[in-house]
Amino acid sequence: MPVTRQNSPAPYPQLTDLEPLAPWRPALSRALHRNHSQPFARYFQLATVKPDRTPANRTVVFRGFLANTNHLMMISDRRSQKTDQIHQNPNAEACWYFTKTREQFRLAGALTLITADTTDSDLRQARQQLWQSISDNARIQFAWPQPKAPRNQDDDESDNTDAFNPPPPNEKTPLDTFCLLLLTPHSVDYLSLRGDPQTRKLYRQVNQTWQTTSVNP
Ligand SMILES: Cc1cc2nc3c(=O)[nH]c(=O)nc-3n(C[C@H](O)[C@H](O)[C@H](O)COP(=O)(O)O)c2cc1C
Repeated sequence: MPVTRQNSPAPYPQLTDLEPLAPWRPALSRALHRNHSQPFARYFQLATVKPDRTPANRTVVFRGFLANTNHLMMISDRRSQKTDQIHQNPNAEACWYFTKTREQFRLAGALTLITADTTDSDLRQARQQLWQSISDNARIQFAWPQPKAPRNQDDDESDNTDAFNPPPPNEKTPLDTFCLLLLTPHSVDYLSLRGDPQTRKLYRQVNQTWQTTSVNP
C-alpha cells in the first residue's frame, strides 16, 4: 500500500503558517509607532556568521512582517556577502535601537532567503509584492554591477548609459538579484532605558510557545 502523508501533520512549521502574535510584537509595534517621526527608526543592524566563524554586521531596512506571521521582512541582493553566509549558517541577530523612546530589541533567530528559485507560491508572491512596493530607486540598485567588485572607472561617467544608470527594471517582475530575506526570531531581548531601574524582558520560544521573563537590566 502506498504511504500517504495526507493526514499526517507537517513535520515542522512552514514559513507561511499562520502564527499567533508573539508577545514581543506589541512592544515593537509601539516603539515603531512612537518613533515614526524618525525615518531611521526603520533601520536595524543585522549580524550574520561568516564561514570563518567571525561576525558580519550591516544596516538593513525593516520591511514589515510576512502576513500573519512573526517573520521580519528585509530585502537583499542575491550577490551580496550575506547570501553565502546565510547558506552556510542561517543564525543571525538583529539589534534595533529606538532613539526617541530609548528602547533596544535584540532579535535572535534564523534567516531564510526567498529567491527567484523559491518554489513555495505564497513566498514567491510575498517576494513579488515587496518588489512592487519599493521605489524605482531601490529597484534599480538590483540592476547595478556586482556588489563589492572593484569599481570600474568607466562606470563613473555620469551619462545615462553607464553601468549605474541602467533602464528602470520592470516594476511588476523582480530581477533575479532581488531577494526577500526573512528573520524568524526564536528569542528576543528587550531593554528599555526609561525608568529607574531600567526594564529588561527576555522572550524565548520553546516548542513553538513563547515564554516571557522579566530580568534585571
Ligand atoms: C541606512 C542603510 C540601509 C540599508 N538597507 C539595506 C537593506 O535593506 N538591505 C540590504 O541588503 N542592505 C542594506 N544596506 C546596505 C548594507 O548595510 C550592506 O552594505 C549590504 O547589504 C552589503 O552587505 P553584505 O555584503 O554583508 O551582505 C543599507 C545600508 C544603510 C547604510
